Order: sequence, then C-alpha cells, then structure tokens
Amino acid sequence: MFILLLGAPGSGKGTQGRILADRLGVPKITTGDILRAAVKTATPLGREAKKFMDEGKLVPDAVILSLIKTELDKPEAKEGAVLDGFPRTAAQAELVDRTLAERAQRLNHVLLLDVPEEELIRRMSGRAAQEQRSDDTPEAIKTRLQTYRRDTAPLVAHYVPRGIVHRVPGTGTVDDIATEIKRLIGR
Ligand code: AP5
Ligand code: MG
Repeated sequence: MFILLLGAPGSGKGTQGRILADRLGVPKITTGDILRAAVKTATPLGREAKKFMDEGKLVPDAVILSLIKTELDKPEAKEGAVLDGFPRTAAQAELVDRTLAERAQRLNHVLLLDVPEEELIRRMSGRAAQEQRSDDTPEAIKTRLQTYRRDTAPLVAHYVPRGIVHRVPGTGTVDDIATEIKRLIGR
C-alpha cells in the first residue's frame, strides 16, 4: 500500500503520516526530514539544500530525484510506504510512478489535506515558537505557501483521473482527521 500525503506546508502531512504509517506498518518517507538531517550534519546534500530550504524554495529536482529513488528502493519500502512531502513537482511525480510501475506497484491513495491559509500560518508560527525550524520565519512561510500553490498543488490534476484522490478536511482534532483518513481508505 503506497499512500501519498499532499498538502500545503503546515497542513499536517507529518502528523497524520506518522499515525497512518504506524497503523499500516509501513515506513513513512519524508524528504523534508531527510534534508533537515543532512543539513544538520553538513553532508554534501545538506550543504546543497540548505539555502533553498531556509528561503522556503524547493530543493532542485537535480538533487531530489536521486534521493527519492534511493528511498523507494530500500528493502523496507518494498511493500508500501507513506510518502510525506514528495512528489512535489511533475518530474518527481513521474519518477515515483515509474519506480513503482517497474515493480508492478502503484500509488493506491492520494490524501489531499485541506486547511485554510490563516490556519496554516497560525500552525507554522506556533511551531516556530517551540521548535527551531529555519523555514518557519514569516518570509519563508510566505514563499513556501506560494511555492506549494505554484509547483505542487497542480499535481492533484495528475492523480484525479486515476480516481485515487481523497480530499481530507484538515482542520479539527488530530484524532478526528486520522479517523476520517481511516474511513476514506478503508483501513
Ligand atoms: P517539508 O519538511 O515537507 O515541509 P512542509 O511541506 O513545508 O510542511 P511542514 O512539515 O511544515 O508541515 P506538515 O504538512 O508536515 O504539517 P505538520 O504535521 O508538521 O519541506 C521543507 C522544505 O524541504 C521545503 O520547503 C523544501 O525546501 C524542502 N523539500 C522537502 N521535500 C522536498 C521535495 N520533495 N522536493 C524539493 N524540496 C523539498 O503540522 C504543522 C504544525 O501544525 C505542527 O506544529 C503540528 O503539531 C500542528 N498540527 C498538525 N495537525 C494539527 C491539527 N489538526 N490541529 C492543530 N494543529 C495541528
Ligand atoms: Mg512535515
């Protein structure tokens, strides 16, 4: 079972992805977490990605595509995974499709977390006060929201014809949203 969590920054992809991955017993692959870890240890990937992330821009596909391929090819992701934060561009979506198709697999569900922009900003600003995420600044939040609208939201149209897109109201309690996701995907 491969499930993609799609949604704006702050929409709850990480929060719901963790609950879902635990319930299904599959790994959650989060490109943002992998990149943040790489930045922290200053690997070549991290040094390359840092500037883009701090500004709230997408890390270029030239860097991300091989990262996605590596993650999907790991043995623990052979039977399924929750994809959190990728694909984010058309090229990434094609790579995911192609990689799964080569294994006679496919994306089973796309969950589109729908949260109003004022609430997204409230959540990210709230998190900024607790955790130190270098892209939870007002300027980077603005760029992340714009980048989502321009580059990532259009991916919904890529999946709609397959009949696998579920729109999930992303406001309310974490538990209620998790219950709704369970209902939508039937497990
Ligand atoms: P990434 O790490 O993916 O961040 P993001 O998309 O900006 O989203 P967030 O992680 O901020 O939010 P989320 O949707 O996971 O929500 P969360 O559960 O945390 O990407 C970061 C950067 O890395 C990108 O800008 C880019 O530079 C780079 N990058 C990553 N992947 C890439 C890719 N594939 N290609 C290119 N570049 C890439 O929740 C948010 C907050 O709200 C939390 O504090 C949480 O506790 C709270 N919350 C959650 N649910 C609720 C609720 N129901 N009610 C109230 N509060 C809630
Ligand atoms: Mg996240």
